[in-house]
Amino acid sequence: MTPSFGQDILQGLQSVPKRTHPKYLYDKNGAALFEKICDLPEYYLTRSENEIFEIHGSEIAHHMSEFDVIVEYGAGSGEKIAKILSKLPPGTKLPTYVPMDYSPAYLEMSVHSLAKKLPRLWVDPFEGDFLKDEPFQDLNQKLGSNRRRLVFFPGSTLGNLDANEIDALIQRTLDFIRPGKGAFILGVDRWKSKEELVPAYWDSAGITAQFNRNLLVRMRSELGARVQPETFRHEARFNPHERRIEMHLVSDFDQEIEVLGHKISFRRGESIHTENSHKFDEIELIQRFHRLGLKFVKSWSDKNHNFVEVLFHA
Ligand code: AVI
Repeated sequence: MTPSFGQDILQGLQSVPKRTHPKYLYDKNGAALFEKICDLPEYYLTRSENEIFEIHGSEIAHHMSEFDVIVEYGAGSGEKIAKILSKLPPGTKLPTYVPMDYSPAYLEMSVHSLAKKLPRLWVDPFEGDFLKDEPFQDLNQKLGSNRRRLVFFPGSTLGNLDANEIDALIQRTLDFIRPGKGAFILGVDRWKSKEELVPAYWDSAGITAQFNRNLLVRMRSELGARVQPETFRHEARFNPHERRIEMHLVSDFDQEIEVLGHKISFRRGESIHTENSHKFDEIELIQRFHRLGLKFVKSWSDKNHNFVEVLFHA
């Protein structure tokens, strides 16, 4: 358990409306469920991004190979970097790869899978939360000052952050890659219709529901919370004003749960807002990042223009 998990969850459940940070969806079980989501027919995001890596991977890899170190935020199983870098001609010098994640479960997965997929890649995992400043001090020390750095942040995880978190993350990333020296490659999902978005977050096999409810399972096993996960149902809500899909856990009836000795009451139909998944307009994103100090270099998209990968220089 991360030290702040219990306190953060409790604080979120005591606020109005009740909400929790999406990063807490990813314990080992949550990570495995998310892997399953990526293979769902309704979840077009991973397929679209993989198509980008398939079609434009060599070009992206060429840009990456100009750097000495690639740091990937929330690296997952490391599958994406393997797909891209394996497109480089044999013998090309590969950057050192640093998967960064606050979940040791994910880091373990990426190290194992990369050893099989791209054995000649030097993998140097780093445990830390990219939403906080402190880990970057250690990371700076670990990497030394001479090597050129590229940050890779695929998968539209940026969409799970709120506006303040995004601005802080960009500032932190800029300081880390250093103006004039580094680069940032970001993958984001584009804004679409309700008909396309809702099924992607409310699939017919119920895997996303399980992923969402896993938060309650986790609260029970790690915090000893008194809660019955099956009494909360999953809902994906389309929010066009904020350009996002929201995940909620909705209580089936009036009830009381208990977390770290605190009683939390729910009315029937009241929800815990567990995740936002913002969708983007490419031009707006580029302008916003430009104002924060990142210069647009190039972008790549899939054939249906679902998803986009954008390269910025600091
Ligand atoms: C990790 N992240 C980009 C996913 C998304 O699409 O927002 C998380 C997810 N939540 C439900 N399904 C997938």
